[in-house]
Amino acid sequence: MHETEEYQTQAEEEYPPMKPLKIVAISAAALIAIQFVPFGRGHLNPPVTGEPAWDRPETRELFFRGCRDCHSNETIWPWYSNVAPLSWLTALDVSIGREKFNVSEWGRKSRNEGDEAAEEVREGKMPPWFYLPAHPEAKLSIEEKESLAKGLEATFGTKGGHEENGH
Ligand code: HEC
Repeated sequence: MHETEEYQTQAEEEYPPMKPLKIVAISAAALIAIQFVPFGRGHLNPPVTGEPAWDRPETRELFFRGCRDCHSNETIWPWYSNVAPLSWLTALDVSIGREKFNVSEWGRKSRNEGDEAAEEVREGKMPPWFYLPAHPEAKLSIEEKESLAKGLEATFGTKGGHEENGH
């Protein structure tokens, strides 16, 4: 028993616990250092090569309010997209979002998942919850959501058409 206590005090002398100020300083240095990572700073908006034939102007308007930042090439890059690590998450969201479904590249060869859009809105999956606090304009009322979902259905159809009852 006695021996263990001795070892402990010895260890503490050699490796004293970090002082709060030191932790803050190291964190600040790390936060500054990661700003130099080149990923996520490009903020590219490639050219618009084709848009879907929207069923109504209102559908496009609602889509541009709630979805354009991640599903078009007309992204408005927010201030926090300049600050790592948020810039990394933003860049990742936009690039994956565009890859799945991009209304600025309608008619492209790779799959463009418009036929899932109405369902995503109805199920409340899109826009993602974490997007909303910084984008209050994307928060749609129940009526607006229904109007958008109907418009998306009319514009893009639904996955599996009439066969979509649970299988
Ligand atoms: C903050 C970025 C962001 C916003 C805003 C956003 N999405 Fe997405 N969306 C994504 C990402 C990332 C994915 C792919 C990963 C996933 O499925 O969660 C995706 C996937 C999709 C898909 C493909 C289906 C799937 O799950 O893979 C559809 C359709 C879609 N979104 C529709 C919408 C619609 C409609 C809106 C607006 C009401 C919207 N999204 C708003 C980021 C976003």
